[in-house]
Amino acid sequence: MTAFSRFTPLVSALPSTVPFVGPEAIGRQRGLVVKARIGANENGFGPAPSVLAVMREQADDIWKYSDPENYELKQALSAHLGTSSANIAIGGGVDELLGQIVRLVIDPGAPVVTSFGGYPTFNFHVAGFGGRLVTVPYAGDREDLGGLLDAVKHENAPLVYLANPDNPMGSWWDADSVISFARALPETTLLVLDEAYSETGPADALPPIASLIDLPNVIRTRTFSKAYGLAGARVGYAISTPGTALAFDKIRNHFGMNRLATAAALAAVNDQAYLREVVENIHAARERIAAIAKANGLAPLPSATNFVAIDAGRDGTYAKAIVDGLMQHGVFIRMPGVAPLNRCIRVSVGPAADMDLFESALPQVLKAID
Ligand SMILES: Cc1ncc(COP(=O)(O)O)c(C=O)c1O
Repeated sequence: MTAFSRFTPLVSALPSTVPFVGPEAIGRQRGLVVKARIGANENGFGPAPSVLAVMREQADDIWKYSDPENYELKQALSAHLGTSSANIAIGGGVDELLGQIVRLVIDPGAPVVTSFGGYPTFNFHVAGFGGRLVTVPYAGDREDLGGLLDAVKHENAPLVYLANPDNPMGSWWDADSVISFARALPETTLLVLDEAYSETGPADALPPIASLIDLPNVIRTRTFSKAYGLAGARVGYAISTPGTALAFDKIRNHFGMNRLATAAALAAVNDQAYLREVVENIHAARERIAAIAKANGLAPLPSATNFVAIDAGRDGTYAKAIVDGLMQHGVFIRMPGVAPLNRCIRVSVGPAADMDLFESALPQVLKAID
């Protein structure tokens, strides 16, 4: 295909990949209809009725740009977290913030440490800014904190990524281990602690805000896409020292937030009772996925997220056959991308109807591919 001839050398050399092919694209490519959307770690329980009401009420104001300082949302989040609003930066989902963080830190060729098979969108941004990925294998289906620290030191890396709880395995480290890891890093290494699943894990998996807030080399990222049920709204936030948070202002799209999305996020923070209800639903659905897996002779892994990784007991080809077979039944799930993690399939929580479809399709698929 003919393209413009003066893209930067970096862009010219990049492959045209997407970190995740969406369920819509998979459905179009294969001529299938998705009936149970339980593959993208969205939250089929949806946002609070109070959130939807605010979005409807404020729809008429959509002709206005959103407040570029995101003042009210920052106020609400900082009150909720017990920080100052100066500790918060707002972005279009964690994914956008990850891109900004990489841009803030990475010169072409700079080493960036992450886990082998870890969250692909981070890697996508690293490639986009010319960084050089240095990957550390998982150990026992968890990100290997000691291995990550060694790689950081060995490479003198300016950036390291840790998702806690983790995607794609659903595993987690306790708060003390994460705090020790963060404090052991050189001051010249920025830790992106991606806490997209902060609301769904056990309480002891989440370092208290105060435990890391004094470290200028730590940015914690969180989202409204998971427990709050607002993936399509694209709102996330970063928590760091005020000085580090200010750096986002140098590069962010100041008028980039969607006004209705920001209003929705504000309403969501203010409805913690609904969040508690949803988190209970998520826990129950996790149990149900695990029970379905076991009933079919598969081994669910413990999860602190809104999905369950299920060890299918063989290799990546077999797991992929399950993923493809389920899609044939309209059940959209995903799987980790690399060995040995790709012996697993990954099933997101959803309402009972989605779980029913998964329950009825799985044994049929397993029988058909055996
Ligand atoms: C670890 C992790 N980080 C970030 C995201 C994306 O979050 P957002 O929707 O806020 O961009 C996901 C979504 O799957 C995730 O699993």
